[in-house]
Amino acid sequence: MKKYLVVGNPIEHSLSPLIHNYWMNKYNLTDSTYEKKKLDKKDLVNIIDQIRNDEIKGVNVTVPFKQEIIPFLDKLDRIAKDTRSVNTICKVNNEVWGYNTDVQGFDKSLKNVNYKNKNIFILGAGGVTSSIIYNFSFAAKKIYITNRTKEKADQLKKADISGKIEVVDWKQKTEPCDLIINTTSVGLKKDENLNLDFKEYENKKDTVFYDLIYNPKETKFLKDAKLRGNKVMNGKMMFLYQAQTAFKIWTGISVKIDDEVIKLLD
Ligand code: ATR
Repeated sequence: MKKYLVVGNPIEHSLSPLIHNYWMNKYNLTDSTYEKKKLDKKDLVNIIDQIRNDEIKGVNVTVPFKQEIIPFLDKLDRIAKDTRSVNTICKVNNEVWGYNTDVQGFDKSLKNVNYKNKNIFILGAGGVTSSIIYNFSFAAKKIYITNRTKEKADQLKKADISGKIEVVDWKQKTEPCDLIINTTSVGLKKDENLNLDFKEYENKKDTVFYDLIYNPKETKFLKDAKLRGNKVMNGKMMFLYQAQTAFKIWTGISVKIDDEVIKLLD
């Protein structure tokens, strides 16, 4: 049996097993199975050992371990190295490799969003945030970042080579932004609220509010944006695209993101 896992904490919300098992079925990988597992930090070393011993074939990593897993890995792909963030792991030539498929997933999800020369406002500075910045550092005009714990946003600025990042205090206002992205975990639990005020975006029909969370489908952050008349996006397409690349790394199979798989998440 080829065993795959998504590990995180919390993990209940993860729909990775649904998607990967669907593809495993569809492509007749009858000897493969994908499950979710809630971990504590101390369990990370154990999971990597199981990959080393071929007890586990592949792992997806989600909050809050995308950075914390790195010391246990033998090698990182280029984007994982640049972002210090890993979401996909497998064994290659007797080494345990960490990959970042979030950057590509996020980039593909922005197909219909024009962010060239626009102002971006990023909420949060957790494990996935460096992948979000990576995309914008080439084309955006300015990237504002805020985080409840400001030091973590400062760290991201320190690693910034684009010179486009400005850290603002939590609840501090920025100049008007075109795209506002929630990268925090607030909203994963039903009715959780960031308690940030975006009144100044009332009736701004072209401003996009993007929540990386895909389950629940509509967080309070997005509900409020809809009520204000803003455009909204959840993390569904990013989730599917990052899963598509992970599946290819593990199995060599290029799966299609078709209506059927998109509907699975509705
Ligand atoms: P980590 O912080 O260990 O990298 P993460 O799950 O990848 O974990 O990131 C969680 C993100 O959600 C962080 O930006 C976190 O803010 P802090 O750095 O201040 O912890 C943010 N977050 C979690 N709960 C929050 C809350 N109640 N209010 C605001 N931000 C919150």
